[in-house]
Amino acid sequence: MNKIAIDAVLGRIEESTGQDANPRISAIVYRMVRDLFYMIDDLDIQPEEFWAGLNYLAEAGRTGELGLIAPGLGFDHFLDLRMDDAEARAGVSGGTPRTIEGPLYVAGAPVAQGEARLDDGTDEGEVLVMEGRVLDGAGRPLPNATVEVWHANSMGNYSYFDTTQSAFNLRRSIVTDSEGRYRFRSIVPVGYSVPPGGATDRLLKQLDRHGTRPAHIHFFVSAPGHRKLTTQINIDGDPYLWDDFAFATREGLVPPVTRVEDAAAMKALGVDKPFSLIQFSFTLHADTANAPQAEVARQRALVTA
Ligand code: DHB
Ligand code: FE
Repeated sequence: MNKIAIDAVLGRIEESTGQDANPRISAIVYRMVRDLFYMIDDLDIQPEEFWAGLNYLAEAGRTGELGLIAPGLGFDHFLDLRMDDAEARAGVSGGTPRTIEGPLYVAGAPVAQGEARLDDGTDEGEVLVMEGRVLDGAGRPLPNATVEVWHANSMGNYSYFDTTQSAFNLRRSIVTDSEGRYRFRSIVPVGYSVPPGGATDRLLKQLDRHGTRPAHIHFFVSAPGHRKLTTQINIDGDPYLWDDFAFATREGLVPPVTRVEDAAAMKALGVDKPFSLIQFSFTLHADTANAPQAEVARQRALVTA
């Protein structure tokens, strides 16, 4: 179709807008409609293809997979890069890199002071100890910071979404001690894969892609007067480390994993097998009015006691 005809029909649609329209929503919706009209025309999208696409999105919505398709197509990572860019323009740089939240956080996890055990004892995976400090931009420890941590089990599944796991398994909020320290014992997670045969899996197959993430541990780190950090660390050595379907692996987020086989250290932890140790400290940025809010409001699962 010629551009004049396309713009004419777009004009008619936009002119239907009422006086009390929400200006932000109107701008976004009409931009989306315009881009899609041009996409349909450029790619000569057939009616059957249009309706298949619409029904595909409806199914992804019904089955709760839109939150998986977004990271798989790079949207979550793109939003991270835009936030990095906005921070750089506001003079906020350095510190622990952010990376995507993902769709599997659950609010309301038990709160522990200083240290916690995350696993409920039923997972046969290798024992993991992770410890470190929360620091400010000058390297000073931040006591009373909150380290929210969540990760998958040794099958790659997250409690709550995997209803076979106990409530809040592998999820805690740990408050740092007077020296800014946190420490937890858990099990080494395994990389998550999108549900087989689901909307995301089928889309990725059409692109000849896999739907697997390397093993990772999620964090929200917050402290009064500081910008909330959303990040993850990866378990080094995972075959998918730099082949993450969600594009979330970043330099600076792959700490070394030490295998501890020392008998005294094992005894101190009450384990009879070697365990993995990760030492990692988080550096937060001070609050600033110049950069966009670091705390992102979005719909999240919430479980209350
Ligand atoms: C997805 C799963 C994750 O565990 C994660 O961290 C990010 C994304 C997903 O299913 O899309
Ligand atoms: Fe995850």
